[in-house]
Amino acid sequence: MGESSGTGFVAGLEDVVAAETRLSGVYGEAGELIIAGFPVEELARRASFEETAYLLWHDVLPDAGQLAHFREELAGQRNLSRATLDLLRAVAAEKVPVMDALRMAAGTLSPGTDEEEALALVASLPTIVAAYSRMLDGGELVDPDPELGHAANYLYMLTGEVPGAELTRALETYLSTVSDHGMNASTFVARVIVSTRSDFVSAVVGAIGALKGPLHGGAPGPALDVVFEIGDASRAEAYLREKLGRGERLMGFGHRIYRVRDPRADVLAAAAERLYTTDGDTELYELALGVEQTALRLLAEHKPGRNLQTNVEFYTALLLHGLGLPTQLFTPTFAAGRVAGWTAHCSEQRALDRLIRPQSLYVGDKDRPWVPLEER
Ligand code: ACO
Repeated sequence: MGESSGTGFVAGLEDVVAAETRLSGVYGEAGELIIAGFPVEELARRASFEETAYLLWHDVLPDAGQLAHFREELAGQRNLSRATLDLLRAVAAEKVPVMDALRMAAGTLSPGTDEEEALALVASLPTIVAAYSRMLDGGELVDPDPELGHAANYLYMLTGEVPGAELTRALETYLSTVSDHGMNASTFVARVIVSTRSDFVSAVVGAIGALKGPLHGGAPGPALDVVFEIGDASRAEAYLREKLGRGERLMGFGHRIYRVRDPRADVLAAAAERLYTTDGDTELYELALGVEQTALRLLAEHKPGRNLQTNVEFYTALLLHGLGLPTQLFTPTFAAGRVAGWTAHCSEQRALDRLIRPQSLYVGDKDRPWVPLEER
């Protein structure tokens, strides 16, 4: 969808450049993603989440001392306040969906300087998700362990068990892979909010709301549900054809920017393969590969020339499932990774200090006669 006949209006702001950023570059035709100078394949394979967050915030990798200090700072902010826990308990009683609980709980974080808020947001999003998930399951809360890193802590707080190196590495890879991605919808929301000189907590609360939608971060749960519903690769074609015939979109496929395969899908596919082939459900992994191939073939038929390819969400679903996470935690876990990028964008926007205020084109009537209430 391009510009509407010379008016300047571009539905969806497609191809409109809304910011300059040093945080990430998305090259849709080449299928490349650069995060703070590193190809995503390199960063995701090597970095801990702390290194990625530090890199995004400071534009340099931390040395050993800086990394240790940053880990300590995060550990100091991981425990939740009474206010946050009370809110989570209240909404757990109502079985509020996890993303809504996360949005509300993030809003209870104390106001502070930009740096303090960024640290509190990054440190506590996983604690909020883990605590809420255990509340929903009726389990005892597991306090964060200051000896564990960020990714390992998340799995520990969710399950009560210290995860092995393999699982921790898979989650580090996931969190770094999704840490930033150009001017995606939730990042744009965060920048708009900060541009009004509002605070980082408000910006992240708004961003969580944007991420929740199925066209953005809400896709992986439904993507995995489809794989489960298909159940056997031989049923994939009939099932997916029916979905497309009903005008539905296949979750985990297509992207606004990428015209070739989303490079994050490859990174996560490799991580998922490692996870499933070492001690996972290889049957599920094979089934997912079969479903992906069928979906790609049908999408090529359905939208010839559009080149709809696998996006990050398809393999997110598989990887996070392999990590033992239930589907309702997929999008909240995405938020726990993307919050590093959101807060870094908030800092960039703060430094720019320019109100984001585009225009709209009025297309309504201009000369309506006022009709008195009794005559309507
Ligand atoms: N399944 C079926 N048809 C699709 C799909 C899909 N996954 N994606 C796009 N199409 C169709 C559209 O319906 C549209 O058809 P039309 O021209 O007849 O209306 C055509 O392909 C072009 O699509 P656009 O609307 O231009 O695509 P857009 O850039 O707006 O969409 C989006 C990108 C939202 C990701 C889309 O591909 C989609 O809905 N995918 C499924 C949801 C999903 O996986 N979301 C996660 C995205 S990744 C992320 O945000 C982290």
